[in-house]
Amino acid sequence: MKKLTAVYSSLTLLGCIIYYHSTAQQAPQLGRNTIKEVVAAMTLEEKTKLVVGKGFKMPGTGPVIGTTEDKVPGAAGTTFAIPRLGIPSIVVADGPAGVRISPIRNHDSSITYYATAWPVGTLLASTWDTSLVKKVGVAFGQEVHEYGVDILLGPGINIHRNPLGGRNFEYYSEDPVVAGYMTAAIVNGIESNGVGTSIKHFAANNQETNRNTVNTIVSERALREIYLRGFEIAVKKAQPWTVMSSYNKINGDYTSEEFDLLTTILRKEWGFKGFVMSDWFGGRDPIAQMKAGNDLLMPGTSQQSNRIKSANEHDSLSIKVLDENVERILSIIVQSPAFKGYAFSNKPDLKHDAAISREAASEGMVLLRNEGNALPLKTDKKVAVFGNTSYDLIAGGTGSGDVNKAYVVSLIKGLSNAGYATDNDLQNAYTTYIADVKSKRPKPRGFFDAPKPVPEMFFDAKALAQKADNADVAIITIGRNAGEGADRKVENDFNLSDTEKVLIKNISIAFHAKNKKVIVVLNIGGVIEITSWQTDVDAVLLAWQPGLEGGNAIADLLSGKTNPSGKLATTFPVEYKDVPSAKNFPGKELPTTEKQSSPFGGKPSEVVYEDGIYVGYRYYNTFNVKPAYEFGYGLSYTSFTYGDLKLSAKTFNGSITATITVTNTGQVAGKEAVQLYISAPSKELDKPAEELKAFGKTKLLQPNESEMLSFTLNIKDLASFNTKRSAWIADAGAYTLKIGASSSDIKKTMNFDLAKEVVAEKVTAVLKPVIQITELKK
Ligand code: BGC
Repeated sequence: MKKLTAVYSSLTLLGCIIYYHSTAQQAPQLGRNTIKEVVAAMTLEEKTKLVVGKGFKMPGTGPVIGTTEDKVPGAAGTTFAIPRLGIPSIVVADGPAGVRISPIRNHDSSITYYATAWPVGTLLASTWDTSLVKKVGVAFGQEVHEYGVDILLGPGINIHRNPLGGRNFEYYSEDPVVAGYMTAAIVNGIESNGVGTSIKHFAANNQETNRNTVNTIVSERALREIYLRGFEIAVKKAQPWTVMSSYNKINGDYTSEEFDLLTTILRKEWGFKGFVMSDWFGGRDPIAQMKAGNDLLMPGTSQQSNRIKSANEHDSLSIKVLDENVERILSIIVQSPAFKGYAFSNKPDLKHDAAISREAASEGMVLLRNEGNALPLKTDKKVAVFGNTSYDLIAGGTGSGDVNKAYVVSLIKGLSNAGYATDNDLQNAYTTYIADVKSKRPKPRGFFDAPKPVPEMFFDAKALAQKADNADVAIITIGRNAGEGADRKVENDFNLSDTEKVLIKNISIAFHAKNKKVIVVLNIGGVIEITSWQTDVDAVLLAWQPGLEGGNAIADLLSGKTNPSGKLATTFPVEYKDVPSAKNFPGKELPTTEKQSSPFGGKPSEVVYEDGIYVGYRYYNTFNVKPAYEFGYGLSYTSFTYGDLKLSAKTFNGSITATITVTNTGQVAGKEAVQLYISAPSKELDKPAEELKAFGKTKLLQPNESEMLSFTLNIKDLASFNTKRSAWIADAGAYTLKIGASSSDIKKTMNFDLAKEVVAEKVTAVLKPVIQITELKK
């Protein structure tokens, strides 16, 4: 017995020694231990490193480069690794239109790292097809994964408040429902690969002028209904891994320092579970950012870590707050490919993705005008192709929304791929001219120095008459580019330049004299003026900035291989002065002595959103201002009829379902984007004439084929934000449900009642403007 006891106690002792050794040597490990245990084992220094990125270096020209050379050169940033706790570094890379990384490494061009340039966000939204956008996301996410990136810095989902917004091309729409559903679709697609996204820029970041400093003064109602609603839909439907706060202030505070935005609204009200990162060098005060719930400061500086550490040591930042920031970051890192040790191939299937990029591009281009069935154009025609961007297509905008792609299919190449004969002399003249102008220009001075457009060439009447003799039809491309760091201008950008107008006019005179048609292709990322020149030409195809397969996709539509089915997700006004925010965009600069700490500069300024909720069609429809082309508009080579609209009930009870049958009544197969608008009764609040609440797109319908679409609305879809009561309230009364082919082409309407007022959601009264805003009212 004694012997046994002795053996037993020596075993116990051995166990204790082994246990002691393992705990001493092996600190808690991410993934094996709980996140709380890992956080409890972290030193203050480690915590302050994890909440601040590893830094950034900005070369004179070329891409924005984070300190990611060891893993993914050219990516925008990384986080610190803490190997003793099993915490890897993760890589984040731009952007909304494709993975933005260095295509060549160590000067070795035998292996390349190009990515697909997808069509820009505005084009994707114009597809009105969330399944297609999800399909783009699945392919896009595969590139993120195979290039060793953990989180994609996109999509961009801000509202097109004003057509001059320099980054509008990155964003989807003037309407938050379109923006929200498109974001959810692409996020779900990308994240299905086991990588993350960062939906950006949260929030009310609708201009580039003084973007790092501007104070956006906006009412709670406009914020909730217009500028936050898309983010709300996306968070609830897709739960993205991360959200990127924006550069601007909202009602006095930087968004990255605004607790009520990042915690009260985003987390408590909407249930966001991931982490928030700042935009690059966004905000000023790292302590306020931590407290607000802006968990990760990007790209990160050692000063930020030091300030956070010292704030904790001096009791101005509690460890509880910092621990929460760290926990949220770790809860995402633990899901990342880096944590899982994914052996990325650096070989995404670019061929497969190019085909999807082309498909998406052709589905989101919008046929604006087609007089006398100028289009489609048989591929046995000879085409005279004018306009610089026919030869030098703009696949996407500039800045972090740009992508390093292996090639761009120009329009001239796309036309020739489709079988069209083109004019070689014109091609030679254009390519020589463009190369010459570009070679004489100084090199871009850096990231924000977007290339200036090449002015259009002038052709005299004799030269044009000869071109008209030798071709069956003329195509003229008008191109526009913009991007991060600057807004667009009215003259020579929103409005066509005199040279462009003369080019269109003279070509039209020459070709029409010979009874030949003229087609304009718009290779643009944002809205332009069309009314003054469009009657000169027969057809206008809005090709947007269509990604690397753009020329092929345009040819698909011109030839009728694909029937146009894109519709506008943003209004084209007649003139810039018709835009509801024209009077207060981009705001005014303020007198100050404040020192700028952002390397991107910007003067203290403010912009007051006096247009309130009346953004885009909400304004044009309510105030009867006729646009050039309305929200939701787009032509097809076929026609559709809308059958009877049926509602599931006459009185709303929890939800209501509308069904409608759409039939292709034309000669060729096509798809139709169908929109559901609501006109709500107006008691206490101003209500827009129509508001989009749902949308869908038919499958490819053959002639005479029909499809039934159904849409279900819930109580929040009927509600407006009542600031006095801090609640989304659906007023009692008669609602009109409208099914439209566009926001003004309403095909069927039906009424239903809401018997009693319903408080759809009570929220916290936060983000109040500090000054009285004189908002636009009916
Ligand atoms: C842009 C972001 C981008 C970040 C990283 C910033 O200048 O505003 O959209 O993700 O840079 O490149």
